Amino acid sequence: MARSKAVVIMAAGRGTRMRSNVTKVLHAVAGRPMIHYPVRTALELGAEQIVLVLGHQREAVAEYLQKAFPDAPISTVLQAEQLGTAHAVLCAEPALADFSGDVFILSGDVPTLPTEMIRRLDDEAQDATVAVLGMQLANPAAYGRLVRNGAGQLERITEAVDCTPEELAIDEVNAGIYRVDAQHLYSTLQTLGSENAQGEYYLTDIVQAAVDGGQTVSATILREAEAQWAQGVNDRADLAAAEDRMQFHLREIAMAQGVTFIAPQRVILHDGVEIGADTVLEPDVALLGSTRVGGDCLIEQGCRLSNTRVGDKVWIKGFSHIESAEIEDGCQVGPYARLREGTSLGPGVKVGNFVETKKARFEAGAKASHLSYIGDAQVGAGANIGAGTITCNYDGYRKYRTQIGAGAFIGSDSQLVAPVNIGDGAIVAAGTTVTKDVPADALSLSRVPQNNLAEWAKKKRQREESREK
Ligand code: UD1
Ligand code: CA
Repeated sequence: MARSKAVVIMAAGRGTRMRSNVTKVLHAVAGRPMIHYPVRTALELGAEQIVLVLGHQREAVAEYLQKAFPDAPISTVLQAEQLGTAHAVLCAEPALADFSGDVFILSGDVPTLPTEMIRRLDDEAQDATVAVLGMQLANPAAYGRLVRNGAGQLERITEAVDCTPEELAIDEVNAGIYRVDAQHLYSTLQTLGSENAQGEYYLTDIVQAAVDGGQTVSATILREAEAQWAQGVNDRADLAAAEDRMQFHLREIAMAQGVTFIAPQRVILHDGVEIGADTVLEPDVALLGSTRVGGDCLIEQGCRLSNTRVGDKVWIKGFSHIESAEIEDGCQVGPYARLREGTSLGPGVKVGNFVETKKARFEAGAKASHLSYIGDAQVGAGANIGAGTITCNYDGYRKYRTQIGAGAFIGSDSQLVAPVNIGDGAIVAAGTTVTKDVPADALSLSRVPQNNLAEWAKKKRQREESREK
């Protein structure tokens, strides 16, 4: 029978080297705070209990977790002073008092580690008491070194600052991810000291303690290309590297699902974004937040979509900015369209150049092709909104709605002063300021009558020219 699993995630450190007012684990990778990823991994592992050890900005971290994982079996414990990784895990002990089985220890600052690699650690460890995830790195830098005995068995982990020159040359390092038998973990942690270069309680000392106590220890080593996925984030350069890996990963998933990227490295995807098959993404497209794009769409260069739902066969032309909108099948948007929150385009709608929309529903086939502001509005099926039309939705105090009927035609440079209704099939003449409702099928016209003065321009010209002499 599979052993019970609990997960402890260490995330109390401030992350001084980030040089930030924001605690390290709240920095985003692919649009989510770093802490999101180990928590998701813990859930994927089937953890019965997930304990987060928090310190710096713990309220902010806890608040995020509550929002992102409202139903998960998460508890948080406070590590008021960061006395080291062993002390961090010790802080989680009361929360796991009734737990027996395997405790997986993850770091809050290792966002790109695939769950599958932790499963491998679990499988390879079999019934070892302590299992360590390691990586082989050409530049082992500041990572703890995995020191093996003459028989090649893991004997201890030595922090870089505590290493002899020979130990420093070891290229197998500690990724900071472990599986430890719960009972062993908590009986051992109590006994560890802090006699080392940093005067900290090192979690890594559980390896030597287990070896000394005659327990089995195992190491799973990620080699070559795999090793990068276990690398942590300590500074902004690491953060950028993690983002880079994550973008690579998200693009690979999208490509496997049939998405074409013209210049893959110039597209930004947030974790959780979905894209249908045969959709083409041009360079400098950003699909953010909870955005979902259907199949067979073309999203041209420079478009930014956040929290937006896009149907199938939609063509979004260059440099359009779209947030919290819904775009149904067969629409055409842009170039340079600005769709703001609450925009909803029915099938086959066209919203063109320099059109701004907000809280506006366009029914099937409606069009606003050029240079307009349509806010707090309802546009009926097949209606045509001419260039330069503005819904005057705000009187300085309150917002009001504009209703445009099916098949209505709004002439260019019209102002629709809300609240106002334009009936089905009505025509608003170009340049009209509409302040009263227009009945269905009526013509509305509010222009100053045109007056042509014969020869006036010519006489003016002659006057001016004779004056110049
Ligand atoms: C640790 C390991 C090192 C390993 C590296 C991998 C130890 C002693 N060393 O070093 O062998 O190569 O991780 O990244 O464990 N934390 C707390 N409370 C503390 C201290 C740390 O919650 O008192 C958290 C941090 O917020 C971070 C994680 O534990 O999420 C790792 O701590 P960090 O200080 O980055 O450890 P390293 O020095 O990198
Ligand atoms: Ca670290």
